[in-house]
Amino acid sequence: MKILVLNGSPKREESGTLRITRAFLDGMREVSEQEVKILHVIDCSIAPCSGCFACMTNGGTCVHRDDMRGILDEIVKSDLLIWSFPLYCYGMPAPLKALLDRTLPLSSMAMQKVGDRYAHVGQADLSRLRNAMICGCGFPNSRHNFEPAAAQFRLCFPGDPLILTVPECPLMNAPEAEVVTGPRLALVRDAGRQYAESGAVDASLIGEIGSPMIPEEDYAAIVNAGTERT
Ligand SMILES: Cc1cc2nc3c(=O)[nH]c(=O)nc-3n(C[C@H](O)[C@H](O)[C@H](O)COP(=O)(O)O)c2cc1C
Repeated sequence: MKILVLNGSPKREESGTLRITRAFLDGMREVSEQEVKILHVIDCSIAPCSGCFACMTNGGTCVHRDDMRGILDEIVKSDLLIWSFPLYCYGMPAPLKALLDRTLPLSSMAMQKVGDRYAHVGQADLSRLRNAMICGCGFPNSRHNFEPAAAQFRLCFPGDPLILTVPECPLMNAPEAEVVTGPRLALVRDAGRQYAESGAVDASLIGEIGSPMIPEEDYAAIVNAGTERT
């Protein structure tokens, strides 16, 4: 399987979310060999969409000549896109959102009814492409935090895309937290294995992965103690 990871964290390899994504890929690799490419979106030149809709009427060519042309080629050739990003203001970081906006050339202006809503008709063959979202956040709560990003992802990529969320994600970069991050990454590896085997992950496992690693109050107290010292 050809997998393209879109790393939306400006921290590149230091991203705690990317650690989670790598654990997921490790799990997938236990089932079968995967061809993986990781793109640090912060290093790409991607102009904001101009909103001219030229690409939707001219067969898919954007007026901007930047890295997005090559990225669109990579997307079309992929079997799985993993959108790996930290939660920023309840959504995705701006550079990754710019990339998402710039996927517009994959759609045409024509719209069709899909279920109870309308969506644009594709002008590229994306029939084999699946999308997954892996998102870490800084707050300890899973509820009322990831919902906007998850809702956006489901609307952009219908068909029940995989969504893995991990609260208290900064713990991933704290060596002293390994006692809780190690087991959490093991669960994520299990999820990767399941996904490679069946194309889905048990809802109960997704729920476990999305739960706080340490009690919310303890996490908040640790973070707050850190801010008092500075
Ligand atoms: C600009 C900005 C906005 C953020 N917004 C949120 C937020 O809405 N909710 C949240 O829980 N954490 C928020 N965070 C915290 C990050 O999601 C958190 O630090 C995450 O673990 C970083 O992941 P990374 O190491 O993969 O970059 C924000 C951080 C930044 C820098």
